[in-house]
Amino acid sequence: MARGSGYGKTILFGEHFVVYGFPAIAAAVGSTTTAIIRRKSEPGWTLTDNRPAVPGYKKKKLDEQTQSIENILRFADIDLSEQGLTITLGGKLVCASGIGASAASCTAIARALSEEFRLGWDDNKVNACAFEGEKGYHGTPSGIDNTAATFGGIVWYKRDPAGGPPTIETIKMKEPTDILIASTGITASTKEVVGDVRRMKEEKTKWFDQITEDYLDIVNAARQGFDDHDLQLIGLLMNQNHNLLIEIDVSCVEIEELVGVSRQAGAWGAKLTGTGRGGNMVALTPGRELQNNVFGAVKQRGYSAWRYQIGV
Ligand code: MEV
Repeated sequence: MARGSGYGKTILFGEHFVVYGFPAIAAAVGSTTTAIIRRKSEPGWTLTDNRPAVPGYKKKKLDEQTQSIENILRFADIDLSEQGLTITLGGKLVCASGIGASAASCTAIARALSEEFRLGWDDNKVNACAFEGEKGYHGTPSGIDNTAATFGGIVWYKRDPAGGPPTIETIKMKEPTDILIASTGITASTKEVVGDVRRMKEEKTKWFDQITEDYLDIVNAARQGFDDHDLQLIGLLMNQNHNLLIEIDVSCVEIEELVGVSRQAGAWGAKLTGTGRGGNMVALTPGRELQNNVFGAVKQRGYSAWRYQIGV
């Protein structure tokens, strides 16, 4: 028997833009998904998914999850034709779109496999395996989710559109700060939403180029903001990033409500995080008191929310 784990994540800057090779910033959150691998005498694999999740999430993702596990087993080159294995997923991370639940489970499974079959994988190899798993969820993942799930902390991530290795840098914060993540309860299909954005990009090239130019200014300023520990600036830039996400039509009524309520309750910045069209919102809420205030305001509207620290 072997066990592995992977972090949940929140994208602070750059969902969707990261798919096209623009840099993005993601932070791991302090909840993980765990995977336990056990061998069994029958061939093939079985899955027991005990992860907590928003209603409907696991059912909606089941086919993609099956494809993902097949990808991972192929990458690990494990022959299950005679002796099989069971995979049990658990952990505290509540699965909802936007929290990197699929990537966290891919990383957890990759780690457990490496342990059980004595593959000796380092984090880079675990990450490469989790990336193959992520392809089961949507054909063309940028790789940011599995990178945050594997390495933790705050990462600056830039994929190479030509297929070379991505740029992965750790961003150090002077001290951790508080965020709030809230869920719309709606499970979006990353494949569908990424596909819609790609179509828009191809149909209206000039418009999309202008948006990405604006985005680049935002993410570069954010990087500087982290270096200077200027949380006010980071919050402002999160709001600006959110405006661009509205422009590319990946927000929705529920996200706008969450963003509005959070800002009204004093959040320094709030934006959708992850795929959008449902999924999650992230708000920057430095200080426990502010974090609790925003948490209370969001809960009052009936949404689920989680308090985390980033930069730990
Ligand atoms: C999903 O968490 C983030 C997206 O940018 C897709 C990706 O990066 O693969 C929407």
